[in-house]
Amino acid sequence: MHKKTVIGNYKLNPATKAEVVGLAQALRGIDMGAVKVGCAPSFIHLDAVAKILTDSPIWLGVQDVSAYGATGAFTGDVSAVQVADLGAKFTLIGHSERRTYHQETNETLAKKIQEAYKANLVVVLCVGETKEQYDNQETLAVLKNQLSVLAELGVPSSHLLIAYEPVWAIGTGLTPTVAEVIKVHRYIKDTLTAHGLPSVCVLYGGSVNEKNAQDFANCEDIDGALVGGASLKIDSFATIVSAFAQY
Ligand code: PGA
Repeated sequence: MHKKTVIGNYKLNPATKAEVVGLAQALRGIDMGAVKVGCAPSFIHLDAVAKILTDSPIWLGVQDVSAYGATGAFTGDVSAVQVADLGAKFTLIGHSERRTYHQETNETLAKKIQEAYKANLVVVLCVGETKEQYDNQETLAVLKNQLSVLAELGVPSSHLLIAYEPVWAIGTGLTPTVAEVIKVHRYIKDTLTAHGLPSVCVLYGGSVNEKNAQDFANCEDIDGALVGGASLKIDSFATIVSAFAQY
């Protein structure tokens, strides 16, 4: 069984450096038990957070990296090499908000994954179906397609996590049942094993909060959580971490 991992995805939050500094300082102080705790601030806050988390076991990451290379004429992009230089150890890739608002395709994501791997960042690949796809019972087919990007890339299991985040569960207060999540996580693990990627850690994300964390934590096939909104409230996040610390 994997060590449980709980990651805060700060998205485009908070508005000020002072607030993120306060959040990172509070994060340092939470009781983590045996849980691997991570956070992914926005690029602009990475350096400030990295300084606060120096010498702490908290796993620092980012929410995205450029598809195009380490440096070059790519206005507005931030590269995997640049964030690794500032202390990032992992990156989210393919979050549904990137897929939706930035039209990220499997082809783009494959490039981002390769850039991350070259810079020695662990990739947390986010996958998940829309409400319509869920209603049409297309979840597994959607995931099969989203996971297919990993098939030929040569990124080993040790550099990879998957976050299963149903799009309709993100920021809505809605979640699938624990049984549904377990079924999907098993499917993800079997699919990756078939791609030559055994033992990949699979997190659940989408409206994880201090009330439901316990239900998700108490499952062998749920290796942790990717937490958005609740990661910005340190008490909620600490409660989520302590739920996973019990298993
Ligand atoms: P949420 O977001 O916890 O606010 O639903 C999760 C995510 O998008 O990673």
